[in-house]
Amino acid sequence: MNEIVSKQIKNAQDLRDSYVKFFKVRGHKEIASASLFPENDSSVLFTTAGMHPLVPYLLGEKHPEGKRLVSCQKCIRTGDIDEVGDPNHLTYFEMLGNWSLGDYFKSDAISMSYEFLTKVLGIPVDKLAVTVFQGDESVARDEETYQIWRSLGLSEEQIYFYDREQNWWGPAGVTGPCGPDTEIFYDHGGAKCCESCGPACSCGKFVEIWNNVFMEYTKDESGNFERLEQKNVDTGMGLERVLPIVTGKKNAYETDVLEPLVKQLERITGRIMEGEMIHPFRVISDHMRAITFLLGDGKALVPSNTDQGYILRRLIRRTIRLFKKLGIKEENLYELADTVMVLNQMVYPELSEHRQFIMEKLRKEYHLFHKTLDSGMKLALQMLKKLPAGENLSGETAFMLYDTYGFPPEFTKEIAAEYGCSMDMEDFQLRFSEHQEKSRAGAEAKFKGGLADHSEQTIRLHTATHLLNGALRRVLGEGVYQRGSNINTDRLRFDFSFERKITPEELSEISKIVNEAIEKEINVTSDQMTVDEAKAQGAIGVFDKKYSEIVKVYTIDGYSKEICNGPHILNTRELGKFEILKEESSSAGVRRIKAILHEVTTK
Ligand code: ALA
Repeated sequence: MNEIVSKQIKNAQDLRDSYVKFFKVRGHKEIASASLFPENDSSVLFTTAGMHPLVPYLLGEKHPEGKRLVSCQKCIRTGDIDEVGDPNHLTYFEMLGNWSLGDYFKSDAISMSYEFLTKVLGIPVDKLAVTVFQGDESVARDEETYQIWRSLGLSEEQIYFYDREQNWWGPAGVTGPCGPDTEIFYDHGGAKCCESCGPACSCGKFVEIWNNVFMEYTKDESGNFERLEQKNVDTGMGLERVLPIVTGKKNAYETDVLEPLVKQLERITGRIMEGEMIHPFRVISDHMRAITFLLGDGKALVPSNTDQGYILRRLIRRTIRLFKKLGIKEENLYELADTVMVLNQMVYPELSEHRQFIMEKLRKEYHLFHKTLDSGMKLALQMLKKLPAGENLSGETAFMLYDTYGFPPEFTKEIAAEYGCSMDMEDFQLRFSEHQEKSRAGAEAKFKGGLADHSEQTIRLHTATHLLNGALRRVLGEGVYQRGSNINTDRLRFDFSFERKITPEELSEISKIVNEAIEKEINVTSDQMTVDEAKAQGAIGVFDKKYSEIVKVYTIDGYSKEICNGPHILNTRELGKFEILKEESSSAGVRRIKAILHEVTTK
């Protein structure tokens, strides 16, 4: 047990409030938590830190709120998913952060961190340990930061120098702002585990609570670091890391952000969280928060086999397997999601606002997976038992479990680990890519078949497909993505991600929009640009497809902007009249529309 029990901080809300207030008093403006899905940044799947929504401002754009900002940002990190279950790593967490956009720098930033930790939270100086960048061939050792810490009263023994691996933050994705940092750790006390033990050691003596990044650089696509014109400070404090320390709890699972979920699991199973129940209870509690926040973000993300949807699917399926293992019933899944909503409704009301969507998608994924889970598990166990000692589960088996039973490979790896085996992930990846190549080649062949003649009619239908895609997104939401397109001389067929039947009213609205674009006689234009530029301009594309670096973007102003090779007609007036013939299900979560164009009638 920690010996610090802050008089001021009793729960998460107290911590959020006191952090924000502390920085507001020091000239910072509070900004709201942004979405978990970073906008205009295709280099990352999720918001992993408070700085994501600030990237343009860290690079020099003027922020409307000024140069000093503070926030509490919801975050998802998937890099540590395998660590979840230990006391410190979470998939979903909140990051408290303060920023200087070309305003104060090292000295003020560190002094404010120090003051907040020691004066507001009451953490004794000798419980702190910090790390400082030791320097390398391109950036010098951060002597200034060392001196600032020393002047605040930290002893030499409390300051550790580390290399770029440890003491350089960012960029969050491939490119963007980054710089050397100074990380602040809480020292749980007791002896060091070994001679080299320090903040970088994973023995548990030190836990990282806050990071101050001195963002003076930006990394470009070729991997070069350029100096930024303005010197920024980007900080991030893990709310779930600090909360147990200041409320006298062992870890986040005992604090008010997670404990109610643990208690609920104890009631459901009749078991208490000790021994072998610790790990699954922690994983379920963590994943339920992440799942509910991902579904409840308002971006209509649904479980799928690509990108963010895949991470969501993995989290849900891993949870369902643990449910099965512990004999937890389906209805408890929804009850736990409800608890997450209730716990967060004051700070994140979007969750309750999307309750119906959250429940619908959870139910759907539960049933989709539940059907195949038992037979898949049986088979997986048979294969594992047959394995000679010391052998890996093959990529072939993992791929079969993925393809037939919907087992994410990471999940199969986990099951194998429970039986003391490993899994050949590389071989799985190989088989997976081969399979993708085959289906892509198949799809392209089919597509070419449709457009090979480049007849006027197929070109017209192709342009109509772009208008349809735009109209679908406008009527049904931005969660709609192309899943397939097939054109012959008679009709277009368009498959897209959507969960339910489309109502007659919606269909008529969609047709109306397409016909409106035709009537407006808009020119179809094309430009060449990089994929990033295209995305920045809001062009849509087939996201599980790899594009070459320079792409062509076709625009029908006000109705459609798509990455595409064409060809297309020159003006929408050539399309005549658009009519939807049929709307039906294509496969789970995918709808299909067939439509035709009537000949142009001369006015
Ligand atoms: N962006 C920094 C981090 O996530 C503060 O550690």
